[in-house]
Amino acid sequence: MSVIRIQGLKSLRGEMKIQGSKNAVLPVMAAALLHEGMIVIKNIPRIQDVFCMIEILEALGCQCQLEGHELVIDTRGLCRSQVPDEAGGRMRSSIMLLGPLLGRLRQAETCYPGGCVIGRRPIDLHLAALRQMGVEICSEGETIKAFARNLQGTDLSLAFPSVGATENALMAAVAARGITRIRGAAREPEIEVLCRFCESMGVRIEGIGSGFLTVYGGTKLHDCEFTVPGDRIVAGTYLGALAVTGGELCLQGVPATHMAGTLGALQQTGCICEIDPECICARMDGRPYPVNLSTGPYPEFPTDLQSVMLAVASVADGYSRIQENIFEERFATAEELKKIGAHITIKGGSAHVIGKYPLVGGEIWASDLRGGAALVVAGLASEKESRIHGYSYISRGYEDICGDLTALGAEIALEED
Ligand code: UD1
Repeated sequence: MSVIRIQGLKSLRGEMKIQGSKNAVLPVMAAALLHEGMIVIKNIPRIQDVFCMIEILEALGCQCQLEGHELVIDTRGLCRSQVPDEAGGRMRSSIMLLGPLLGRLRQAETCYPGGCVIGRRPIDLHLAALRQMGVEICSEGETIKAFARNLQGTDLSLAFPSVGATENALMAAVAARGITRIRGAAREPEIEVLCRFCESMGVRIEGIGSGFLTVYGGTKLHDCEFTVPGDRIVAGTYLGALAVTGGELCLQGVPATHMAGTLGALQQTGCICEIDPECICARMDGRPYPVNLSTGPYPEFPTDLQSVMLAVASVADGYSRIQENIFEERFATAEELKKIGAHITIKGGSAHVIGKYPLVGGEIWASDLRGGAALVVAGLASEKESRIHGYSYISRGYEDICGDLTALGAEIALEED
């Protein structure tokens, strides 16, 4: 088992190109199935969730070749509609395969999706949208079986702007006959990326970036090459690290326009950010100021950075409040932060934090991806050594968090236990 060992209180300094986005690349890989041919995806993050998706695509009959950060998917051999249970259960994004499999093969079978344990993760909105498009769905134990003799474009209205449900509906709409209108669509940048990818295969979509998408389905698709943008959550994690250590960072490859909610939160801490379209430069002097944050659908502050900001608030100079509105169990990280000296009280959906600088450091356990990254940030603000277990959660989404932070001046290493 791997353990991250951190000797904290070193300031961060330097420039870095941020890895490709996990939440953008996974639906793009799934959407590749909609086309029968060759798809090239560039700026692939080399993370466990991507390896898992490759395993699934190969099990379905596709051929995948990953070289460095470029992935070539040959989807001509797609012949199976059943997502393998073990790999599908490991990753929430396996549910993304329903839409494209129905599009190509008119049937799909998958187990209820896995992923991080951060609260109830229902898929009712995905299934309701697909049903409205003519898909018949039944559950047998833990398995979902779906058939679509006639995948038909229709008018959909999502009761909540779910990212996954929007992506699934969008992918099914690409293969459906006629026009699909999706009202109440999620506006996260990853949806825009998926739309752009579909456009590069030849699909016409209107309303990209808005909550009302119009998809012209049934077009003949063609081969394409597509580059995934940088990961706004990884960039936010490293900016959170800067907020607790001080120093100066320039992060490249992530559109700053996608990070307004995050940059607003960092500005509350006293971090000074200068942005141009492709580069975010941030400077932090001294201890962070406290924050008052609420998570919400884009463009609000992202739930994926709530745990990181909880770590920042733990060392801030005063009282912070962080409200979680998307995933109720995302406060599990608070218990680990408390073990190394943080003062956090959870009441309902809010964390009340009285900052203490520095934290003590010690032995702590990650139990989800972003919570794991938050523990790393807390370790960087601790006076004694920290040992963070549960690296398998962190490597689902961070290519090389230890290598990156070492390059920026932190004393952090991945060691075999
Ligand atoms: C995606 C991201 C995840 C991020 C989340 C919110 C990927 C792989 N994951 O997850 O990192 O934290 O968006 O930005 O892109 N809901 C329902 N019914 C449904 C679907 C969702 O009630 O059918 C609820 C969920 O319980 C949750 C909320 O909607 O409370 C948001 O979920 P959703 O936007 O669907 O998140 P994911 O797509 O799972």
